[in-house]
Amino acid sequence: MSTKKPKAKSPPARSGRFATGPAAAVTGFSESVSFDWRLWRQDIIGSLAHAAMLQRIGILTRREFKAIDRGLSQIAAEIAAGQFRWRPELEDVHMNLEAELTRRVPAGAKLHTARSRNDQVAVDLRLWLRDEIIALDAELVSLLRALLELGAENQSVLLPGYTHLQRAQPVSLAHHLLAYLEMLQRDRDRFGECFVRVNVCPLGSGALAGSTLPLDREYVARALGFVDTQGRPRLTQNSMDAVSDRDFVVEFSAHAALLAVHLSRLAEDLILWATAEFGFIKIADAYTTGSSLMPQKRNPDVAELTRGKAGRVMGNLVALLTLLKGLPMTYNRDLQEDKERLFDTADTVRACVRLMAGLITHTKIQPATCRAAAADPQLLATDLVDHLVKAGLPFRQAHHAVGRAVALAEKLCKPLSQLTAAEWQKVHPRFGPSVPQLFDLDQAMSRRALPGAPGPDQVQQQLARWQKLLG
Ligand code: ARG
Repeated sequence: MSTKKPKAKSPPARSGRFATGPAAAVTGFSESVSFDWRLWRQDIIGSLAHAAMLQRIGILTRREFKAIDRGLSQIAAEIAAGQFRWRPELEDVHMNLEAELTRRVPAGAKLHTARSRNDQVAVDLRLWLRDEIIALDAELVSLLRALLELGAENQSVLLPGYTHLQRAQPVSLAHHLLAYLEMLQRDRDRFGECFVRVNVCPLGSGALAGSTLPLDREYVARALGFVDTQGRPRLTQNSMDAVSDRDFVVEFSAHAALLAVHLSRLAEDLILWATAEFGFIKIADAYTTGSSLMPQKRNPDVAELTRGKAGRVMGNLVALLTLLKGLPMTYNRDLQEDKERLFDTADTVRACVRLMAGLITHTKIQPATCRAAAADPQLLATDLVDHLVKAGLPFRQAHHAVGRAVALAEKLCKPLSQLTAAEWQKVHPRFGPSVPQLFDLDQAMSRRALPGAPGPDQVQQQLARWQKLLG
């Protein structure tokens, strides 16, 4: 066996300045193609727009552009078919594609004119995130629809609403579910606002200081769809900011973390509701798992994993903020660490949204259990207070009087609604003869008629509003 080590092949970015290639350990440590390969589509689209612009300004001939176009299309087809060999010694997706193009097409050597991987990776990430936000939004709409449908199908179902996880006041199931539509719609709005800041073209910023060549930045921006609602190109305005800005990554990750928290709360509600103790829902077999030991178990793993994955998405956000906080201007290699956190966040929230939509559509409400729980007369204690207030009692006195009635019922070991007329009178003379009627649950619900309240008319209006909104 020869003891002579083969000379490491230099990646193209090093040629000229360096006598040798990087040490194998350095290559392994610094490569990113094992994860940034998934930016290949965006990298190719960005290269094509850049090449088309180079042709416009006379740096590439028409033939050279055509050759690059053909070469990149061929490479794209091979990647899509799983036939492309990624080479870690070429570091990243950008160098892999450029090197392979240049191997096939001599004009490939001109492609990187007035471009740096610093503005290239920024454009790739922005293109990628734009698609991701659109795809996530579609998944979110499905989840909203699933929640809306479950609520609409069970409009008459009432539940105890909880504070401190103690029974508080009756609400409708639809009202409870619509609370999540509100949260998730705010998430959609936030991602939409984030999209506007993602949708800005950094190409032309070079390594950090633009280029001395007469690039047509507006042409590239238009070609890549970095335009405002009027079709005007949106360009980054400072080359140094453009190559080192990852605010859009942080912003997306922050919105994703909040979305993950919302999903986690929904998951927690479902987990509780699926217990024997609550018994409000039954999750279909397809969305439950068994135990390897206990034959009777039906576990809500999808909801539990969604709850668990929120921690991971929150961790990614903190990792990104920590990554950025000490960086001097401008590009620093640390930034390469952004990708795995971003990809993981995007993949995780998308999967959670999709699975939660599936879980909701595979969930049946148990109306009898819900009704029995909602019929707990103590849930209407606040209605009794309002009744006394209407009879002219100051709120604090009314609150105190009802508290005494609750204590009396507990002492007598009977439901609050079963106190006799004499007992009510004894607690406070203003309770009057109409107190028993206050415990009619349907009537109690129709008294909740304020905007945003869980009364049937309000809830119906809200369901109709959401139905219209979600088409
Ligand atoms: N793989 C690198 C990253 O993701 C691309 C930019 C590299 N630029 C550089 N000057 N080394 O950040």
